[in-house]
Amino acid sequence: MKIENRVAIVTGAGRGIGKACALRLAQDGADVLAADIDQVTAQQTANEIRALGRRSLGMGVDVSKQAETREMAARAQAEFGRIDILVNNAGIMHIKSWLDLNDEDLDRLYAVNFKSVIYSTQAVARYLTEQCSGRIVNMASMAAKTPRPLYIHYAASKAAVVNVTRALALYFAPYGVTCNSVCPGTVDTKMWEYIDEETGKIEGRQKGDTLRQRIPLIPLGRVETPADVADVVAFLSSDDSRYMTGQSLVVDGGVYME
Ligand SMILES: NC(=O)c1ccc[n+]([C@@H]2O[C@H](COP(=O)([O-])OP(=O)(O)OC[C@H]3O[C@@H](n4cnc5c(N)ncnc54)[C@H](O)[C@@H]3O)[C@@H](O)[C@H]2O)c1
Repeated sequence: MKIENRVAIVTGAGRGIGKACALRLAQDGADVLAADIDQVTAQQTANEIRALGRRSLGMGVDVSKQAETREMAARAQAEFGRIDILVNNAGIMHIKSWLDLNDEDLDRLYAVNFKSVIYSTQAVARYLTEQCSGRIVNMASMAAKTPRPLYIHYAASKAAVVNVTRALALYFAPYGVTCNSVCPGTVDTKMWEYIDEETGKIEGRQKGDTLRQRIPLIPLGRVETPADVADVVAFLSSDDSRYMTGQSLVVDGGVYME
């Protein structure tokens, strides 16, 4: 893929899908600012990227805070001299009956999963539009297309990400900047460990059973890996996807077909 010597910011890069994206973009030749609310894991990802021979910075950033996303973009620009790619990956899941959701639950979920996309994209907008090139990739979810009662707020936040991706694609199109989203399915990360455990508690299943019961429902017959997602993010970050914008790509092993 053609991204040599580009500069990428990946949020939620301390573990899981975000870490896989950061490493994959570095393997493809990008320098990477790895941002995560957990500064220690962000630094670990940056160390792994430097070991690959690329420049990298690990930074503690809470993407639900507008001021912190501005600092993130300013730091990338100061350190690397440009910004080409933004992967808005950071996100949280919350399993709870919709009948019990309260202000705090909804505000937190929307702040991290949705407001963050607006804030981080605002923070890089000037750099991308001035140089008239760039790639924005937003991490949505299959849940945006197939919502479930145990996470209606999560699903709605991801549907908002799909929708805002389209609006941002229109905003950025005159500048040659593309904006797309990716909708992963059942990815083997800490987030799915949490989903398995919490839905199991509510629906009376043993730990591990919720995940095991999903596998026969996946046409490609296995759980998704973070690398399965990162490979598509790398494509959307590269010149190879130059004529695609405003799209939401489902990467879920064939569960949901558009
Ligand atoms: N795991 C799945 O099955 C799955 C499926 C569809 C979509 N997704 C989405 O993919 C993204 C990554 O998920 P994952 O499975 O790797 O999750 P994960 O929980 O393993 O990792 C998420 C990372 O984001 C960081 N993070 C959380 N809140 C943050 C904040 N406010 N600011 C900065 N960083 C923050 C965490 O510290 C963590 O390192 C999320 O947006 C998630 O909604 C995951």
